[in-house]
Amino acid sequence: MTPRLPYPITLTGDGIILREWRDDDLDDLVALLDEPAIARWTPMPSPFDHEAGVAYLKRARQGRLNASRIQLAITTDGGKPLGEVLLFGVDAGLREAELGYLVGALHRRRGLAAGSLSLLSSYARSTLDLGRLLLRIDPGNTASTGVARRCGYRLTGEPPILQEGPYGPSSLDTWELVSAGGSTRQQRLRNFAARRYGRR
Ligand SMILES: CC(C)(COP(=O)(O)OP(=O)(O)OC[C@H]1O[C@@H](n2cnc3c(N)ncnc32)[C@H](O)[C@@H]1OP(=O)(O)O)[C@@H](O)C(=O)NCCC(=O)NCCS
Repeated sequence: MTPRLPYPITLTGDGIILREWRDDDLDDLVALLDEPAIARWTPMPSPFDHEAGVAYLKRARQGRLNASRIQLAITTDGGKPLGEVLLFGVDAGLREAELGYLVGALHRRRGLAAGSLSLLSSYARSTLDLGRLLLRIDPGNTASTGVARRCGYRLTGEPPILQEGPYGPSSLDTWELVSAGGSTRQQRLRNFAARRYGRR
């Protein structure tokens, strides 16, 4: 079961404006995503060229129009994109979704990822009524685990997700938002049981 996610949206707070991607972001998008850390830690194609950028913006637009995901450019003023934060894999039955983020190399260590993740997490909790918010992170990605911790996410005991990529086998840990209003132990057990017994 997938809810219809609102579109378009703008989320504002803490010196950050999250806005929808636009077609004229293409050159900035390519400059942000054609970068070694993004190639290493995300499923983006590498090199990330003009063609990859066109396909990416098209997919982002489709995901917004069919209301299956939220994919927002991170800006400080509504203008130039400096990164991206997204929400996807929504399961309305389990009231859960996964989030992700990336920030361009020139704009890191300014709190943009943490601020953006916090903004979108709050929106997911309060407006979308999603109780269980998840991140999947390679344990070697210390920048990303730092962002997760700073935003109130904690490692769950779920088994790592094993995957094969261009850098060989790797695994992703599952992190969950556990700050005030987070899911209770009872909810987590219920969700775990639901997944085991085939509700997704
Ligand atoms: C992970 C990433 C999004 C972090 O973006 P950012 O805007 O630089 O992160 P923030 O400035 O919000 O950092 C928040 C906290 O995370 C930690 N952190 C961020 N980058 C770090 C790094 N390179 N090394 C260690 N800790 C780091 C710090 O605790 C930081 O707080 P501080 O700066 O006050 O010490 C960015 O490095 C990136 O885009 N990496 C490639 C893509 C990626 O890995 N995406 C996540 C996939 S799961």
